[in-house]
Amino acid sequence: MQIVKELYSGKAKSVYTTDDADRLVLRFRDDTSAFDGRKIEKLAHKGMINNKTNAFVMTQIERAGIPTHFDRLLSDTDSLVKRLEMIPVECVVRNITAGSICRRLGVSENMDLDPPTFEFFLKNDELHDPMVNEYHIRSFGWATDEEVATMKRLTFEVNDVLKRMFLDAGILLVDYKLEFGRFHGQVMLGDEFSADGCRLWDAETRKKLDKDRFRQDLGGVIEAYQEVAARLGVDLG
Ligand code: TMP
Ligand code: ASP
Repeated sequence: MQIVKELYSGKAKSVYTTDDADRLVLRFRDDTSAFDGRKIEKLAHKGMINNKTNAFVMTQIERAGIPTHFDRLLSDTDSLVKRLEMIPVECVVRNITAGSICRRLGVSENMDLDPPTFEFFLKNDELHDPMVNEYHIRSFGWATDEEVATMKRLTFEVNDVLKRMFLDAGILLVDYKLEFGRFHGQVMLGDEFSADGCRLWDAETRKKLDKDRFRQDLGGVIEAYQEVAARLGVDLG
């Protein structure tokens, strides 16, 4: 497998085409972004930690029978994935209130949500990822009704797998964002799962172990990402 050229460079990852038209290489960089790119810093080792944590989590998700684009680790910072046609919406599940839902609905942080709630956002930094609903997705042709149903079902199935996996590591899965795409017509999980795209709190102390440490200038960002990886049993080498 050979890298051919850079296809796209996002805020934290670069994507390369390969000599296989159906495969891409994801390169996880140390760049760390918040507030739609308004705050960006390089944090040493973050690319490696997120690449390996993502590989571990995607493998657990696959083992539970949920289709993902993940094929295999290539190096400390690179992974081989299937080339998806991405659906431009973000699927968010919240088990506990935090972040934007507190601002939007005027609710306090740290409320258990039973059942967990679900939100769609449009993937568009310039517009600050506005919340959208299923009618928007249908009217603008971003996905079919069947694809919307599949994304919701798979996002909740991921919740069952990951809530348990994190709890076994003494961590609460507060919320997370997933992105999906089509591979020869089949909807599967794409993008990444790492502490950059979810909220993780220590189950005992509720200490934040995710990108909120960076957003809120709490310090110890990489130490927290390392701790999550260590508790899950991710081999960081
Ligand atoms: P929010 O509270 O800012 O709406 O985010 C909810 C969760 O989804 C949180 O874990 C962060 C994640 N997320 C991203 O990683 N990227 C995004 O663009 C959005 C909207 C959310
Ligand atoms: N992922 C988005 C960004 O990098 C939003 C955030 O995490 O705050 O800017």
